[in-house]
Amino acid sequence: MRFIFTILFCFTFCFSIFAASETKNAPKHEWSFTGLNGTFDKSAIQRGYKVYREVCAGCHSMNLLYYRDLIDIGFTNDEIKAIASEYTVIDGPNDEGEMFERPAKSFDRFVSPYLNEQEARYSNNGSYPPDLSVITKAKINGPDYIYNLLLGYVDPPEDFELGDGMYYNKWKEGEQIAMAQPLDEGYVDYDDGTENSLEQLAEDVTTFLVWSAEPELEERKSLGIKVLLFFVVAGLFVFIAKNRLWKSVN
Ligand code: HEC
Repeated sequence: MRFIFTILFCFTFCFSIFAASETKNAPKHEWSFTGLNGTFDKSAIQRGYKVYREVCAGCHSMNLLYYRDLIDIGFTNDEIKAIASEYTVIDGPNDEGEMFERPAKSFDRFVSPYLNEQEARYSNNGSYPPDLSVITKAKINGPDYIYNLLLGYVDPPEDFELGDGMYYNKWKEGEQIAMAQPLDEGYVDYDDGTENSLEQLAEDVTTFLVWSAEPELEERKSLGIKVLLFFVVAGLFVFIAKNRLWKSVN
């Protein structure tokens, strides 16, 4: 009996911690990549990359990505070379022992907007714009949280005391954040004619960030389904075998 009570207690305790850590009634968004057979919408990832490149990359690095990774989301080698060559990396030392600058190549990591953390903080009023490579995994309900955050810049309640250099955001803990509203309607133009409303830009950039944090999501899910099917079929055989073996005993 005591055992059952302990289990019940642990269960209730864990559940209440989980419930408390949920962000306050944040709206849930429909994503193509959630669910058992979720897949990525490649054109959304490409559009999201454009949003990252033209807006977020001004402040946020993505250190875990290489330009050649863009092949996964439908860019050709030539397009990737062209994209990379727009950035400059510091390489070296050369034969004379000196560091030198050169255009980035496909095998380089995404170039960071700042040379180091100090420069990043100095340029952002003391706050540090986190690396976005795996940000969707670093936050609870990452995709929903980031999507809501990007849409969460509204007027503060009248009696709200905003800190110096802070912006009101209804979905950030403490309801203020050091990042000014980065996106709004029409901030990025899409080549495929998709409407560039704030919601669409936020959805696409979030999809891109989910892909960057888990590029193998589709393979994982399809493997999961195969494994499940295997267990169902294997279970059926075991069941039939068991019935046959025990037939004479019954
Ligand atoms: C002008 C610089 C700047 C731009 C542009 C910018 N950010 Fe930020 N971002 C920041 C700073 C600074 C912080 C740290 C905020 C803080 O700690 O209060 C931040 C924090 C974040 C966080 C973490 C929030 C949290 O709750 O910890 C996310 C996610 C984020 N930014 C996403 C984006 C996305 C997506 C874009 C592009 C659409 C973008 N940012 C564009 C400066 C920027």
